[in-house]
Amino acid sequence: MRANVAAYIAARDGGDPADKDAVFLTNGASDSVKNILEMLVRGPTDGVMVPTPQYPLYSAALTIMGARRVSYGLLEAEGWGVGVDDWEAAHAAAVAEGTTVRALVVINPGNPTGKVLSLAGMEDLVRFRERHTLVLMADEVYQVNVYAEGKAFTSFKRVVQSLGSPVELVSFHSTSKGMIGECGLRGGSMEVVNFHPHAMDVFYKAASVSLCSSIPGQAAMDVMVKPPVEGEPSFALYKQEMDATYDALRCKTAKLASVLNTLPGIHATGRNETGRAVRKRAARRDRRVCRTWVGLWESARNLPHPHYLPANRGCDGTDGQPDARLPSELYEEIRGGGRRVGRGTCGEGRSSRSQTFGG
Ligand SMILES: Cc1ncc(COP(=O)(O)O)c(C=O)c1O
Repeated sequence: MRANVAAYIAARDGGDPADKDAVFLTNGASDSVKNILEMLVRGPTDGVMVPTPQYPLYSAALTIMGARRVSYGLLEAEGWGVGVDDWEAAHAAAVAEGTTVRALVVINPGNPTGKVLSLAGMEDLVRFRERHTLVLMADEVYQVNVYAEGKAFTSFKRVVQSLGSPVELVSFHSTSKGMIGECGLRGGSMEVVNFHPHAMDVFYKAASVSLCSSIPGQAAMDVMVKPPVEGEPSFALYKQEMDATYDALRCKTAKLASVLNTLPGIHATGRNETGRAVRKRAARRDRRVCRTWVGLWESARNLPHPHYLPANRGCDGTDGQPDARLPSELYEEIRGGGRRVGRGTCGEGRSSRSQTFGG
């Protein structure tokens, strides 16, 4: 199975070889992230650079470990990109406070921003990491969830190798995102690059403490990285199901952006850019935070259910006519076994699952 994951990584990275012995099968990305953090963090003055906004696994794990979170801001004005100046400033401030910064986390494609990093941004990040002695933790669990025209995922492994960089990199993948979305089976993998052999021994020793990762999860990972190929009997059905799921997720991304744009004070501009990012500029300011959110809450309560907004035409299989009913009325209808919400083209596949904001 590890050989299959390595072959998948090599194919994804344009043929750059991947070593199966550098691949670990894991119980999803959460476990491997926590394990790596536990190995890196030695005490309360150690810290890890984490983006803001972030997926809260990182802040929560660091808090439990009693370690420091060193925040670096994502640049909202640049579609939630990354900036060298901000890393340098965040790093310098942390060091000045007595923090030993051990690692830098990057989530690409981003959650919750949806941002797909540019190659230039990724190269900057690798060079920043070279200037400081940090492990690069690349959370790449959304690597196939790229919906924007002209955007493509590039792995940090590829960037590190193309730069000939010695950066110590750990890259995380999972079965709980992508197209198969098998969250409950807890499957994932982690590739460890450029580490000293002694460090690799420690990784193996630490992984061995848990004997092995979940076998159903390993099988799910294997299926995900080694799908049916053209000419095999199940290929046509596989492709049909994958395409339908992908289209449904892309459709929901656009739908979510259009619904967010109907809320006062919130702006979302598109897919994999700021599309899934919620801009709360006004809400960040001093006492207006409270007023804004109270206002939002009131407005949201009075909006027709998003599924019924005209912006969904062609996306949800309805006639596209706005429905003036309030969420509470729709709720009653749904509870009473009436028309189901969330079906149609956009509702097929994983209709109730949150793709961007967590499994
Ligand atoms: C960015 C990010 N990293 C990691 C995870 C955890 O993934 P897993 O379900 O594989 O533990 C999630 C889950 O939503 C996520 O969004």
